[in-house]
Amino acid sequence: MNRDTSRRAFIAGLGVGAAALAWEEKAMAQQVQIQGFEKGVTDTEAQKRWKPISDRKIRVGIAGYGVCQFGAAFGFQNHPNVTVAAVTDLFPERCATLAQLCNCRKTYPSCEEMIKDDSLEAVFIATDAVSHARLAIAALKSGKHVASAVPAVFGSLEEAEELYKTVKATGRKYMMFETSYFHDDLYAMREMYKAGLLGKVVYAEGEYFHFSVEQIDSYKGWRVGLPPQWYPTHSNAYYTGVTGLPFTEVSCMAMPSIVDKFKPANNRYKNPFATEIALFRTADGGMARMAVSWDTPGDSGEKGRIRTQQGTYYGSFATEGRDIKVPVMTRPPLPPGVEAGGHGGSHGYLMAEFVEAILANRKPLVDISQALTMTAGGIVAHKSALKGGELMKIPQYPL
Ligand SMILES: NC(=O)c1ccc[n+]([C@@H]2O[C@H](COP(=O)([O-])OP(=O)(O)OC[C@H]3O[C@@H](n4cnc5c(N)ncnc54)[C@H](O)[C@@H]3O)[C@@H](O)[C@H]2O)c1
Repeated sequence: MNRDTSRRAFIAGLGVGAAALAWEEKAMAQQVQIQGFEKGVTDTEAQKRWKPISDRKIRVGIAGYGVCQFGAAFGFQNHPNVTVAAVTDLFPERCATLAQLCNCRKTYPSCEEMIKDDSLEAVFIATDAVSHARLAIAALKSGKHVASAVPAVFGSLEEAEELYKTVKATGRKYMMFETSYFHDDLYAMREMYKAGLLGKVVYAEGEYFHFSVEQIDSYKGWRVGLPPQWYPTHSNAYYTGVTGLPFTEVSCMAMPSIVDKFKPANNRYKNPFATEIALFRTADGGMARMAVSWDTPGDSGEKGRIRTQQGTYYGSFATEGRDIKVPVMTRPPLPPGVEAGGHGGSHGYLMAEFVEAILANRKPLVDISQALTMTAGGIVAHKSALKGGELMKIPQYPL
């Protein structure tokens, strides 16, 4: 039986038949057009060198199989130390497809119901951006480790504070799956920074350019009129993902969009902007210019670069003759069967990092502190844009 036939048979067996298949086909068709979903190359040779750090299996629950089909996209179902023990989506047909892809027979009608399952040790929240914080807080309070799709919170500093306090109070692991962290270039920058080769980052730039993002389907239309800097983590990662450090203040400029859905009267956020350009002060005294744009066609992508005291990383590292030995920077091996996946081949690495952090009982790479400085930094940036670029302080979330 080929993959399509077996999927059809499985979905039919769950009794949601035709509707499930119809949605699956529609979502697949939309997804091939969404930027970032091209799969990165998986280094299968390196996978032979992967060494397990435990033989324990973590029981993971997965929530959300929307237009980006994120619930199945990070490869939990293929990790040797994971059993996907439950899945959920509010739409039965999406839930059924997610169950099939994750080889999982236990489904729940909602994430709220799934969280009550005491047999689960961790959950991955891949629901709409609006619900991430609420569901993450509920899962943490019920004793589970949480991985969340970006952003950590949606436009609310109050939610950021509550999520921060809940992670600290429960002592559970929290990781945000910011995909830029495992882009080849950002990975190399971080390793060089950690090795002390760069000194301080004097100036960083990051961009998330995604023309017409509002036209991608979204649960209850959360993408329609979305303030650009409420979705800031792909760009902000090009500072925090390198240094691990926070932003302290921001001034953000914006220009009212000509796109209809970005007229304040036409969206629930009363948002006039589809391009917001933020200038951050960074914790170590430097500067970062972070741009998010939905209404400027061309040159799309999630990318960035840094200028440091020792050299400049614009695609590759340049030093103007200084004698710095640049080590070979290859990402660590993935577990056998786990693909690097989409968004610069980052999906598998983020998932494997979360699993390893639980097994090793250590802090995950994109911890609550980094997740919130990137997310809240953008929320304050949008406030600044609404006030003509006023310089504003960013709340701090130290661990
Ligand atoms: N590069 C990246 O990191 C990247 C790229 C794309 C999407 N994302 C993020 O991934 C997430 C999913 O994106 P999408 O476009 O598929 O979203 P979507 O809006 O299309 O779908 C969200 C899904 O979540 C489900 N859901 C909502 N509340 C739920 C609940 N309480 N219990 C169970 N299921 C629930 C809905 O039924 C829906 O199917 C978003 O948060 C988005 O920001 C990140």
